[in-house]
Amino acid sequence: MTFVVTDNCIKCKYTDCVEVCPVDCFYEGPNFLVIHPDECIDCALCEPECPAVAIFSEDEVPAEMQEFIQLNVELAEIWPNITEKKDSMPDAEEFDRVINKSVGPKLKDLER
Ligand code: SF4
Ligand code: F3S
Repeated sequence: MTFVVTDNCIKCKYTDCVEVCPVDCFYEGPNFLVIHPDECIDCALCEPECPAVAIFSEDEVPAEMQEFIQLNVELAEIWPNITEKKDSMPDAEEFDRVINKSVGPKLKDLER
């Protein structure tokens, strides 16, 4: 079992999650983070720390966000590790809770 970063991290990147992870298994892309599923020890510390409610246990990822399970797998292999909290993205408050940021024309924002 692993935890998964989902849609609402996009364009927010608050990074509170990074600070509490005991095994440093977060990886940073241009506009959101992912968790490496093979490194996550399922401690659940990060889930309540995310102000954007973007982190779910793998078995609790909402139906409309299932694609993020595989995205975390793939992107954790190519994005760099992040181990320290940093400033959130400039428009984080504006984009927090915007639904389906990864869908439609904004798919390019994933920059895979
Ligand atoms: Fe890190 Fe624990 Fe969150 Fe997994 S569940 S990403 S080990 S803080
Ligand atoms: Fe993203 Fe939430 Fe972490 S917005 S960077 S998953 S604290």
